[in-house]
Amino acid sequence: MTKADVREDATAPLEDMDDWEDFLKLRYPRPAAEDMAPKAEHEFRDYRADARPSVKDFYRLNHTHQTVDFVLAKKHQYLALNKREMGVWEAMEYLNTLIDDSDPDTDLSQIEHLMQAAEAMRADGQPRWFILTGLIHDLGKILCLFGEPQWAVVGDTFPVGCAYSDKVVFPEFFAANPDSQVVQYQTTNGIYEEGCGLERIHLSWGHDEYLYHVVKEFLPAEALAMIRYHSFYAAHREGAYAHLMTEHDQEMLNWVRRFNPYDLYSKSAERPDVAALKPYYQELIAEYFPPVLRW
Ligand SMILES: [Fe+2]
Ligand SMILES: [Fe+2]
Repeated sequence: MTKADVREDATAPLEDMDDWEDFLKLRYPRPAAEDMAPKAEHEFRDYRADARPSVKDFYRLNHTHQTVDFVLAKKHQYLALNKREMGVWEAMEYLNTLIDDSDPDTDLSQIEHLMQAAEAMRADGQPRWFILTGLIHDLGKILCLFGEPQWAVVGDTFPVGCAYSDKVVFPEFFAANPDSQVVQYQTTNGIYEEGCGLERIHLSWGHDEYLYHVVKEFLPAEALAMIRYHSFYAAHREGAYAHLMTEHDQEMLNWVRRFNPYDLYSKSAERPDVAALKPYYQELIAEYFPPVLRW
């Protein structure tokens, strides 16, 4: 399948799934070193004005269709992990079959993107499990190859079954979500208990949650949090939903924050030499993972 096939789908407004990540960079620009002082409200960019129509359409679909029922159904469908059996490197190559044919000469492949994040971590002397997490963190995007629409693979994640925070991007689009009419789902804690912990919260369905379940037996808790919550921007960037979290969650979110700059800002036009780097990364994968995983 190519991204063009995905694009023909009416539920795929983005020309390229990476357009969502480009929008994240627009919303959360890399702070310049001299620019670390807290900003006044008016200095923040207006992401609404800057967002392309396709990105807005994408969020509209995401916020409309990610309901409690939808999330539970997807968990039921995927978390038995009975779709495929393959190793981590094989999954990287599988994800790479999602080809961007709009401009294959200049756009980086999925493996190249993953390696750029991992290489930036390696250059900073991060621990091996951290680098490995960078290498694999987006492998859940193979959901796209299983036929899931863009809005059920990527996008900022948010809790379902409780009141939507206005810190979630484009919160006004939640008005079209059927759950917004369910009184039980619209109280502050909704179907959860205060301080119950993120473990008990159902986040909107996407590549983060799926990959977490594939790898959860094999990586340290910090790495698993980085994978599971890396798109939960309302929490790790905006500080929302703290009332549902434990102290442990807050500690883990600090690791997500450490991870996030590599995710957002490591993409460069310079192509990593995949063939040359492959032995290093295959050894790293083998250090933590069995040869075959269930997906
Ligand atoms: Fe991601
Ligand atoms: Fe990513």
